[in-house]
Amino acid sequence: MLKVGVIGTGMIGQDHIRRLTTMLNGVAVTAVADVDTAVAAEVGARIGAAVRATGEEVVADPDVDAVLVCSWGPTHEQYVLAAIAAGKPVFCEKPLATTQGACLRILEAEVAYGSRLVQVGYMRRFDVAYRALKLALDSGEIGLPLMMHCAHRNPSVPGHYRGDMAITDTAVHEIDMVRWMFGTEVGAVRVLVPRHSRNGGDLQDPLLLILEMADGVIVDVEISVNIRYGYDIRGEIVAENGTATLGGPASVAVRRDGWEGIPVPADWRERFLQAYDVELQEWVHAISLGGQPLGPSAWDGYAAAVVSDAGVDALRTGERVVISMAEQPKLYQEAAR
Ligand SMILES: NC(=O)c1ccc[n+]([C@@H]2O[C@H](COP(=O)([O-])OP(=O)(O)OC[C@H]3O[C@@H](n4cnc5c(N)ncnc54)[C@H](O)[C@@H]3O)[C@@H](O)[C@H]2O)c1
Repeated sequence: MLKVGVIGTGMIGQDHIRRLTTMLNGVAVTAVADVDTAVAAEVGARIGAAVRATGEEVVADPDVDAVLVCSWGPTHEQYVLAAIAAGKPVFCEKPLATTQGACLRILEAEVAYGSRLVQVGYMRRFDVAYRALKLALDSGEIGLPLMMHCAHRNPSVPGHYRGDMAITDTAVHEIDMVRWMFGTEVGAVRVLVPRHSRNGGDLQDPLLLILEMADGVIVDVEISVNIRYGYDIRGEIVAENGTATLGGPASVAVRRDGWEGIPVPADWRERFLQAYDVELQEWVHAISLGGQPLGPSAWDGYAAAVVSDAGVDALRTGERVVISMAEQPKLYQEAAR
């Protein structure tokens, strides 16, 4: 039984605790902490876990084998570094850290430790439709990939959502996904700014993010965050001998009165519900078997930070921004993709 300590018992922390305690096998949540001590106490009492005063105490708890970091982004670095220092596997919700410098400090600590301890919460790699798309690509049946068209559409976003978040919070999932899909880094980015949707008030919405992959594949990502009709994720790979398109999440289609309709998920939680389950179950299995995590690595977290920073630059300047990354440590060259 893998004993997990959870730091941050807010929205995603509680959602992950629900799947760890009611859905998944071979795992128990033994300790929790949150700066909001009332919420930590309520969650701890509900699941019978110890409530610790700080995240560091969760990491140090002898009854904790592995750590789940679900606190706010700017606090991730300190907890991931504490877990590495304690030699405990750590699953960190995205982002790995909020600056490239912080990501590099994590890479350095993990490389000094000598094997992988960190997994970052980019869950699309665990989604059944994305995995089927990658299988179709990797089988070679459509030939060499040339382009990919993606759309990331949200029905609406909260009031605090700023323009940059379209890249750093929303399209960052496509940034991680295409690096995994094509097994190569992003070489340069551009952002095109179409006519603006009045549904978003002053927010510049939609945006078109162009990712030039290092092997010449070009990816376009439509980011629309006030589309109203639902949460809609799309992807189509155009290759030399055919195309492969991401299947929809709907398991029912209704036909009536000369019309066919399928339900559209309300939000990201509904669309990626099962991907989160698979993500954590595979993490629990990998760690319980005494192995290293196989999902997105600290290097992937760093790469996502570099590309999204470049995307923000491209949005602000209107220029094409060439990506410059640190040299990849050997530890991550061997990592499973
Ligand atoms: N993979 C995904 O699709 C996905 C989805 C949602 C959220 N996230 C990420 O998960 C993280 C949390 O997001 P959320 O929506 O649950 O936010 P939230 O505000 O609902 O919860 C965060 C919790 O962390 C606590 N916290 C803040 N600082 C802390 C600290 N120093 N120590 C301990 N606890 C602290 C807060 O009190 C809060 O309860 C963010 O990094 C977010 O980007 C990822």
